[in-house]
Amino acid sequence: MRTPVIAGNWKMFKTAGESSVFVKEFLPLVAGIKGVEIVLAPSFLSLSAVAALTAGTNAGVASQNVHFAAEGAYTGEVSPGMVKDAGAKYAIVGHSERRQYFAETDESVNRKVKAALAAGLVPIMCLGETLTERESGKTFQVVERQLRAGLSEIAAATAPKVIVAYEPVWAIGTGKTATKEQAQEVHAFLRRILKELFGDAGLAIRILYGGSVKPENISELMAQPDIDGALVGGASLKAASFASIVKFN
Ligand code: 13P
Repeated sequence: MRTPVIAGNWKMFKTAGESSVFVKEFLPLVAGIKGVEIVLAPSFLSLSAVAALTAGTNAGVASQNVHFAAEGAYTGEVSPGMVKDAGAKYAIVGHSERRQYFAETDESVNRKVKAALAAGLVPIMCLGETLTERESGKTFQVVERQLRAGLSEIAAATAPKVIVAYEPVWAIGTGKTATKEQAQEVHAFLRRILKELFGDAGLAIRILYGGSVKPENISELMAQPDIDGALVGGASLKAASFASIVKFN
């Protein structure tokens, strides 16, 4: 039984004050909702504030990135231990915007997944093909490479802690959601590889869909057998809209 996860990635939006305003408005809207893991991913600077406001509630906190070293001379970076200390439970790793604008590779993503796990964080590892890759028939090849490389050297016993997020790059922030059939097809493919890699432990891994998820399309996505949740960008920035996604049933 895989508990669904609905995560909001705020990207580079919201100051600490704005984040707190959101949380105070949002929590009453989702109070009492059980059976869904709710995750908010604010900027590093808002982690502590959001973690303090959500402590003891049904919402948890994620960082949007993490460094792969426990500490060291890495000016401007934030370690998994610091994120954990700030009150986060999860860390988004390998988002396509990080791969695209900050030169993250499958190898650095793998190091970050391992570092997050070592610090006691739940990594939310993102992968997905670009439009060019999809149009040239490379979708499955690309996501398979990203999945296998990203989860390299992870033990089967640890694997169920990881969350995978399939985010087709062409669907991010474009309003062009993958159809439920397109998403399900890739999720089922990823699930088969996870089973091959980790056996039954692989079947416990949640696979989220991300890319233009909205209150209007969440139900049909969640109805797919291999879609275990959503990673939501734009539609997670307003409390009412994100709450209605959380209440997808
Ligand atoms: P949008 O929901 O704005 O398309 O963003 C998706 C995303 O990148 C979440 O990580």
